[in-house]
Amino acid sequence: MKKISLVASTTFEQIVPVCKISCIDVRKKSNYTLLHFANSINLNIHLFGERLFEFPPAIQPISIVYSEEQEGVLSEFLDNLIARGYLLEYCIKWVDICEELKEELLNRNLVVEGDLYHIIFAPNPSLVQHIDYIEKELVERENNINAVPELSVLDLGCGSSRDLVYLLKSRSKVQWKGYGIDMLEFCLARSRVLSIRANVTQHLSLYYLEISKDGTFQELERTKDIENSKLYKKLLFDMETEDKKEAFCQSQPCKNFFETCANKLPKTYNLIINIRFINKAFLPSINPMLSPGGFVFISTFAIGSDLPTFSKPKSNHCVDVGELYCFFSVLGYKIVLDVIETIEDGRPVNTFIAQKPFTLSNN
Ligand SMILES: C[S@@+](CC[C@H](N)C(=O)[O-])C[C@H]1O[C@@H](n2cnc3c(N)ncnc32)[C@H](O)[C@@H]1O
Repeated sequence: MKKISLVASTTFEQIVPVCKISCIDVRKKSNYTLLHFANSINLNIHLFGERLFEFPPAIQPISIVYSEEQEGVLSEFLDNLIARGYLLEYCIKWVDICEELKEELLNRNLVVEGDLYHIIFAPNPSLVQHIDYIEKELVERENNINAVPELSVLDLGCGSSRDLVYLLKSRSKVQWKGYGIDMLEFCLARSRVLSIRANVTQHLSLYYLEISKDGTFQELERTKDIENSKLYKKLLFDMETEDKKEAFCQSQPCKNFFETCANKLPKTYNLIINIRFINKAFLPSINPMLSPGGFVFISTFAIGSDLPTFSKPKSNHCVDVGELYCFFSVLGYKIVLDVIETIEDGRPVNTFIAQKPFTLSNN
C-alpha cells in the first residue's frame, strides 16, 4: 500500500494514477462534498460492515481517502479491510490541492464537487456487457414516443438491488423502471437506502414476497419493524444531507418503503433478471410475464459433470448445464448467450440471455 498526502504542491502527474483506482473516501461528508474523486463513495467509517456490498469485489485494488484528524481510527479500518482480502493500493491523506490542479482535474472529470453517489460496486459483468444490445433490441421494437424510452425490469431475488440500481442510474438512452422482489426485509432496506443514495428511488419499487415452490409470489407476514430497526436507522443516519432524507420521505413514506401485495406488481416486463438465485418452479411463470420481444437474463449456479462442485446453494437451487437452453428453446426464444462462467469464489454459474419471440405464432 502506497501512502500519499495530497498537498498544495501535489502535481497532475502524481495524482492521475491515484484517480483511476476505485476509492473509499472516509472523510466527513462536508469535505467530500467540497471535492472528491469521481471514482469514490463516501463512507462513515462506523458503517463499514453494513455498506460492504457497495464496495468493488475484493480482487480489485481500492484506495482509501482520509483526513488528518482521522489518523487515529484509520489503522483498525485498514486492518479490517485487509482481513477481508481487500488489496489496498493507495492510502491518501487529503490535506489540500492547489486551485490550478483542481480546475484541471474538474475539467477532466477526475474529481467532482457535490454530495454525489458513484457506483464502484460491480454489477453482474455479463449484464453490463450485454445491456447495450438488450436496450437496442427493445427500443427498436417498442415504438416508444418518449424522448428517453421507458422500459421495465423485474429482479427476482434482488438482494441489495445493485443490478437494478446500476440499470436505473447508469443508462442514458433508456429510463428503466425497476421492480425488485426479495423475501428478506433487511435486503429490501438496503435496496431502498442504496436507491436513495444513488438518487433513483422514484424509479424503484420493492416487493416483500417469496417466490414459492408452486411458481407463484407468496405474500409474507412482516416479521420486523424494519423502519425502526437499528440497521435501517444506521443506514439512514449516514445520509447526512437533509434534502436526501426529505426526498426519501416524500417519494416513499418511511412507514411503507416496500410493498407486500403481489397484485400491485405490473403484469408484464421488458426484462426479467434472476442473478445468483433461482427457483426453478418459477421458470414457467417467466414467459407470460415478459412482453413480446422481452429478455430474460439469468446468471445462476450450475451443476454439470465437468464443473467444480460446491455445497451452497443446494442442487434444487441450481440449474443443470443446458437446462435453461432447453427450457427457453422449446418456447421459441432466441438464445443470445449461454455460457458457464466462474464467480470470484470459484463456483460455476450459467449465464443465459434469451429473447421472447415477438409474434404469438412463434410462441
Ligand atoms: C445470493 S443473493 C443474490 C442477490 C442479488 N440477485 C445479487 O446478485 O446481488 C440471493 C437473494 O435471493 C433472495 N431469495 C432467496 N430465495 C428467495 C425466494 N424464494 N423468494 C424471494 N427471494 C428469495 C435472498 O433473500 C437473497 O437476497
